[in-house]
Amino acid sequence: MNQTDYIVIGSGIAGLSAAHAVAPFGKTLVITKGNIHEGSTQLAQGGIAVAMHRDDTPTFHLDDTLAAGDGLCNIEAVKILVEEGPARVQELVDMGAHFDKSGDDYSFTREAAHNRRRILHAGDATGREIEKTLGNTVRRHPNVSFLQNTTVASLIISNGECIGCITVKDGIPKPILAKAVILASGGCGQVYSYNTNPPVATGDGIALAFRAGATVQDMEFTQFHPTTLYTGDKKPISLFLISEAVRGEGGILRNKDGVRFMPNYHSMAELAPRDAVARAVFEEMRKTRSRHVYLDLSEVPLELKMRFPTIFKRCQASGIDIRRDFVPVAPAAHYFMGGVSTDIEGRTTIPRLYAAGEVASLGIHGANRLASNSLLDGLVFGYGAGKSAAKLLSLPHSPSIPPVVTPLPAGLTRVKARVIRSRLRNLMWTNVGIVRTRAKMEKARAYFQTLQWILDTPTYDEELLELQNLITISMLITEFSLKRTGSRGAHFRQDFPEKDTSEVGHYTLTIGMTTPLLNPQL
Ligand code: FAD
Ligand code: SIN
Repeated sequence: MNQTDYIVIGSGIAGLSAAHAVAPFGKTLVITKGNIHEGSTQLAQGGIAVAMHRDDTPTFHLDDTLAAGDGLCNIEAVKILVEEGPARVQELVDMGAHFDKSGDDYSFTREAAHNRRRILHAGDATGREIEKTLGNTVRRHPNVSFLQNTTVASLIISNGECIGCITVKDGIPKPILAKAVILASGGCGQVYSYNTNPPVATGDGIALAFRAGATVQDMEFTQFHPTTLYTGDKKPISLFLISEAVRGEGGILRNKDGVRFMPNYHSMAELAPRDAVARAVFEEMRKTRSRHVYLDLSEVPLELKMRFPTIFKRCQASGIDIRRDFVPVAPAAHYFMGGVSTDIEGRTTIPRLYAAGEVASLGIHGANRLASNSLLDGLVFGYGAGKSAAKLLSLPHSPSIPPVVTPLPAGLTRVKARVIRSRLRNLMWTNVGIVRTRAKMEKARAYFQTLQWILDTPTYDEELLELQNLITISMLITEFSLKRTGSRGAHFRQDFPEKDTSEVGHYTLTIGMTTPLLNPQL
């Protein structure tokens, strides 16, 4: 049996930040499904929001975060985010991260719903710069080792505590024990047929924590990004993002007929909160019977356009020159505000199990995340979870390890599994997507219920494990979305378009409960 002091699941910003904090206190094993860089962090474009500009303050940052969160933010947590953020980002700089400067000062950009320029960036590849810098620092620590291309299949729970996890590589399971497990496995964008997320974002952490008995919350809140590059009717695993920072620098949205529409929907026009822009784009596409709208960059000065080299190259590969052409764009699932319920120290409802980053839900982002706040969330609360886990000094006693189960479920071929996966993703997009109704969600729910047998069949096949996780996440998102009979932030019910003033609070669910429960106090 393998044993270490701390297990960190995931090597994005939250996992690396947690490993950085916990490593001085004991042997730390970072387990990651792909290679160390695979994840949403590596893809982050716009930047990291932080109150470091001389005209900015944490209080202004707090105000914008709360306004975007539409009444559901956990204010205590947001205060920690905005107040600790500058020190954590400064630490990144001290580790060697380079953010763009203009002269001696940082150059801050603007994104939707920020009332000032607050986004630090490294060109349009901010995530790559952060991932590289943190990764190099963590790798150098003598207490840290990495297990790459290894999937965590389940958590080991003994006497109600989390004492380790079962990993799988090429279908072969292996238990690893630890004093504490920190989940930092990212989001679940792959549950939607149109999304910006990397292939690893299949919601594994949320699904396996839920199955182990952890409480999950806010599962009705998926954030849809308004602008991904439209490249035809194909459905690639991930769509390419056109950063909101492009609109921050003056990009204008026009419908198929070339008409600017955002001022008709919101006083902040193209820089309205992301949920409002995504819904407006969706509505214009419906009205004009088009599969996309356009992003017009003609008002963006040339030198600013060239600040987006990744976007420039990717558009060029599709025959679009951002210096003169309109860019066809459409919305896609992008970020998940829901997840494993945690407190401000990253503790889940299972002792010795911590969570941070996109897998976790602490209410920082409320019903709608403010742009570029998630890198900061992973950095600050990943670090906090690591510090908190480090307080657990003794190894748990007498672990009882679940028996190894059959590797392949009967009756499920790989071909059949892929058909189910594709159908599920399409249903989630069409029936539990940007605009929701009870009738549509009930259809999705009926299909998901026919898949219960897949969940009930134990497996250590990596592809089937992902399918199980996607089914669990789909069921959870649908149940929570049916429960919230009103509209708030990113959750829009066409059958209840008014604000859900009777439901100010967070829905939570723990296995064994029949329906999500409203917790007004959270
Ligand atoms: P990730 O970085 O996604 O890392 C998750 C890790 O968990 C990966 O290493 C993965 O391999 C591992 N993992 C998953 N499942 C398992 C398993 N079963 N076993 C083992 N390992 C597992 N936010 C901003 O603030 N600013 C931006 O500019 C920005 N731009 C974005 C652009 C794109 C295209 C995308 C997709 C997101 C963007 N976001 C941005 C959001 C932000 O990048 C993410 O929310 C954040 O990086 C999540 O970090 P994380 O550490 O929680 O997860
Ligand atoms: C973007 O660059 O538009 C993404 C920013 C974010 O998701 O916070």
